[in-house]
Amino acid sequence: MRYGYPKGHVFYRKLGRVYPLVTHGEGIYLYDEEGKRYIDGSGGALVANIGHGHGEIFKKMMEQMGRVGYVHGTQFTTHSIEEYAEALGRILPKSLEKIYFLSGGSESIEAAIKFARQYFLESGHAQRWRVVARWHSYHGNTLGALSLTGRIGMRKPYLPLLIDFPHFPPPYCYRCPFNLSYPSCGLECAKALEQVIRMEGPETISAVILEPIGGATIGALVPPEGYFSMIREICDRFEILLIDDEVMTGMGRTGTWFAVEHWGIVPDLMVLGKGMSGGYFPLSAMITKGEFVERLKEKTGGFVHGHTFSHHPVACAVGLAVLRFIEERRLIEQCPQKGDYLLRRLEELKTFPFVGDVRGKGLMTAIEFVRDQKTKEPFPRSKRWTERVIDLAFEYGLVLYPGTGFVDGVNGDMVMVGPPLIIEESQIDEMIEILKKTFSHLAKEIS
Ligand SMILES: Cc1ncc(COP(=O)(O)O)c(C=O)c1O
Repeated sequence: MRYGYPKGHVFYRKLGRVYPLVTHGEGIYLYDEEGKRYIDGSGGALVANIGHGHGEIFKKMMEQMGRVGYVHGTQFTTHSIEEYAEALGRILPKSLEKIYFLSGGSESIEAAIKFARQYFLESGHAQRWRVVARWHSYHGNTLGALSLTGRIGMRKPYLPLLIDFPHFPPPYCYRCPFNLSYPSCGLECAKALEQVIRMEGPETISAVILEPIGGATIGALVPPEGYFSMIREICDRFEILLIDDEVMTGMGRTGTWFAVEHWGIVPDLMVLGKGMSGGYFPLSAMITKGEFVERLKEKTGGFVHGHTFSHHPVACAVGLAVLRFIEERRLIEQCPQKGDYLLRRLEELKTFPFVGDVRGKGLMTAIEFVRDQKTKEPFPRSKRWTERVIDLAFEYGLVLYPGTGFVDGVNGDMVMVGPPLIIEESQIDEMIEILKKTFSHLAKEIS
């Protein structure tokens, strides 16, 4: 059977694509109805952090469904909600202790924007509502989250609907926005935040939001040492909240529970999603400090951000099972070593003339493509280079995650490699072999 538009009633995400039908998954592999095996080299969109088909997650989910499948978040709580919050509370950075459960990353980003606003409103600073974000970031697709997202192509069609949130440049050392190099640059990219805050008026800004490691738009962009502490210091100086978007990086993906831990920073709000449930159930969270929640308690008496599926008992049962899986299999402890191995093997791909940069931390990595390794000139978008890589690797049985447009808003090609954390070194080798086969094919095409 061939699935895809215009056949049937599914409104597919890509209207020009034929979709294989996946029948099951096992570990890092997915299998379609024709028996073809795929390595889930990106865990979907860096979601399937523990891999596929684990019976113990299914069992915990079914147990909760058997007890009670749904209660409304304003009316009841359940053991699963309480126990999961307790378990998360033990691993969260100190002072982040109040967890608001939701069902998707964008939803929790909206919650963070609104929480920051409500906090300042109730603290007597009604004019503080704007959130500063970075260009070439990704924070989601709902209108508030898209207003933060610095992905130009994605924003353009919806610009009239977006909120006027300021942006500043990312710490993109491979193509420094200031034409400088680290460390003599003095972290101009972090200082740019202060400039934006001053220009926009600090009294209007509620928060700054960052992905600790740039993800879906720019591909595993790790900031240089000193960057985060400078951002934290600027936020503190202007009494602005720091929102840490860990939707992609959180829950062990980069070798610590949360990526900010690499730099010893404690944010004021944190957003989690994706890996919380490893994709087994829709689940996300907005997390903040007790003292901020207390402010809301004193005034309105609650957070004005209700969703039908918030604080979902089954989602929390799955989240708890996934967290325990990560702990019991010691996946975070193993992640740095596996990540170093993956990066080392990806480095080998630089022998291909179109591999410009290889970057990442832990098992969150990316390959940036260029037309010319020396000048770093990107391919013109019309070449659809990323799509070619993705499609060909897919044909060879490797799933990767694409990103485009981050060089100048139009051009820029990269793929993310972010396999489930359970991956073994021999399976990393399998991925590299497919990447080499894919790149050799493309090299022949352009030679
Ligand atoms: C860093 C980050 N924030 C937010 C989101 C949005 O999450 P969702 O797609 O679950 O709405 C994503 C999704 O890729 C993300 O990577």
